[in-house]
Amino acid sequence: MYSIEVKGSSGSYPIYIKDGLLGEIGSEVKKIYKGRKIAIVTDSNVNKFYGKKVLSSLKAEGFETFKIVVKVGEESKSFGTLLGVYDKLLDFKINRGDIIIALGGGVVGDMTGFAAATFLRGIPLIQIPTTLLSQVDSSVGGKVAVDLPRGKNLVGSFYNPRAVFIDPLLLRTLNDKYFNDGMGEVIKYGAIKDRELFYKLMNYENKEAVLKDIDKIIYTCCSIKAGIVERDERDTGERMLLNFGHTIGHAIEQFFNFKEYSHGEAVAMGMHAITKLGEEIGVTKIGTANIIKDILIKYNLPWNLPEIKTKAIIETISHDKKNIGDSMKFILIESIGNSFIEKIKSAKIEDYLQRNHK
Ligand SMILES: NC(=O)c1ccc[n+]([C@@H]2O[C@H](COP(=O)([O-])OP(=O)(O)OC[C@H]3O[C@@H](n4cnc5c(N)ncnc54)[C@H](O)[C@@H]3O)[C@@H](O)[C@H]2O)c1
Repeated sequence: MYSIEVKGSSGSYPIYIKDGLLGEIGSEVKKIYKGRKIAIVTDSNVNKFYGKKVLSSLKAEGFETFKIVVKVGEESKSFGTLLGVYDKLLDFKINRGDIIIALGGGVVGDMTGFAAATFLRGIPLIQIPTTLLSQVDSSVGGKVAVDLPRGKNLVGSFYNPRAVFIDPLLLRTLNDKYFNDGMGEVIKYGAIKDRELFYKLMNYENKEAVLKDIDKIIYTCCSIKAGIVERDERDTGERMLLNFGHTIGHAIEQFFNFKEYSHGEAVAMGMHAITKLGEEIGVTKIGTANIIKDILIKYNLPWNLPEIKTKAIIETISHDKKNIGDSMKFILIESIGNSFIEKIKSAKIEDYLQRNHK
């Protein structure tokens, strides 16, 4: 079993990574929680695959369990869903001494995390991430949120879990689209911080080969993220590096109303675009954008910007938190594995986007 201790301002928490961990979840939870009641929040899809397994493992250890199943998809990261979850937590008489488990991808993790952070001013939380994206990214670092009709993640908090339990075998039931989506974030870690990881990813023959190594890959990604969030828990400095490709990516997601491109796909295009721009302004080694393009193609991710209205994209980007005057803060890479924060003039971005979309 791999384990990582993440040090946070509110104490530290472990991340455990092991094939088959889900089947032992009851005894693992027992080691860190001495109470009896557990509320499990999941989505209907994950419930179908793993709901019974988790419940029976917890029940076998004597826990009293209560399951809350929400709809699949980003729409569940909403106040509507949240109210339903609070209501069920009240029905079940969950209080501060009990525990909430988020069993699912980033949607369930973010929404349940926010419910746990806010219900009765905070109920201890355990994350059991089930998608690649949530195993390498969203379950670590304590960011929890719901969306508002006007944008994603607009209401949220920093709320660290008690523990994160990662079972890489769960990825066997994840479809290729979501697997590739998660690979987008894995590629990001390589691009911003780990040249060795990046070139390892370049050399895998196929998905099976990646899956054979996936526990190590998840461990590497979680270790990178843990290091970054320990040094910058509140996202005011180094943590911004994790946003490589995300500023343009978010704008694309939003432009298409979150319907056309998944998060990973949008970030993939964002990573390539910003690297190409980096080359143009002379801060990125020539050829790096092509390397990014090659790896995105290898993992069936898009790299070329879609047809967009440049003004609308700039508008969305300029609402982004990273703006200063007529410049915007972007994450760039100098070469694979070396990232930094750079201010770029809005006009320069606009000009670049105008010339480079379909
Ligand atoms: N908190 C953070 O730091 C952070 C970071 C990155 C992304 N996010 C958020 O994560 C969300 C996206 O998460 P996601 O990509 O995991 O999406 P998701 O939670 O919607 O899961 C994707 C799909 O996979 C299904 N699924 C989950 N696990 C499965 C499994 N093991 N087998 C089969 N199907 C499975 C789900 O039911 C869903 O249909 C976004 O809302 C994004 O904002 C948060």
